[in-house]
Amino acid sequence: MQQSTSVKDYIRTIVDFPHEGIMFRDVTTLFANPRGFRMAIDQLLHPYAGMQIDKVVGLEARGFILGGAIAHQLSKGFVPVRKKGKLPAATIAEEYQLEYGSAVVEIHDDALSAGEKVLIVDDLLATGGTAEAGIKLCERLGAEVIGCAFVVDLPDLGGRRRLEALGIDVHALCDFAGH
Ligand code: PRP
Ligand code: MG
Repeated sequence: MQQSTSVKDYIRTIVDFPHEGIMFRDVTTLFANPRGFRMAIDQLLHPYAGMQIDKVVGLEARGFILGGAIAHQLSKGFVPVRKKGKLPAATIAEEYQLEYGSAVVEIHDDALSAGEKVLIVDDLLATGGTAEAGIKLCERLGAEVIGCAFVVDLPDLGGRRRLEALGIDVHALCDFAGH
């Protein structure tokens, strides 16, 4: 019997990118495959079936691709969390740590209303620093983060534990241990 293809099977691994020792989990091959992309969107939404979601928040950059499709599927609005300096109107900002140094992400300060329930989406959960910054931005605007959904979890980097310690519900479609 033929084995069915899973979301994970569509993800390409690039060895030593962006630098030596890193196994880069490339979701562009998943996004490019019509069956794979639909499967990913459907599976990302599955845990939230029947739950109220007012807005979908996508984390730059690949979270925009997933979040846009999910928002369309739900007939809800999409809100981007962008790297510093990209959003044109008034913003609030959060700094987070990278392997070397730090980075800043921003959200428009009128993008979410108090009490709105939001789903945060990104391609990959590593240390959880990016997602935590996104959660803080949403919560500072008074929104309630009902969950964070990822295609890939790198469990060795502890992101899930970090987000769950904040009381956030985390879902990932697959994981790569030993990242
Ligand atoms: C990658 C990935 C996640 C983030 C995860 O994005 O797409 O957004 O890192 O890492 P973390 O859990 O340790 O924060 P990257 O910062 O490379 O930027 P990009 O999505 O704009 O390419
Ligand atoms: Mg990213």
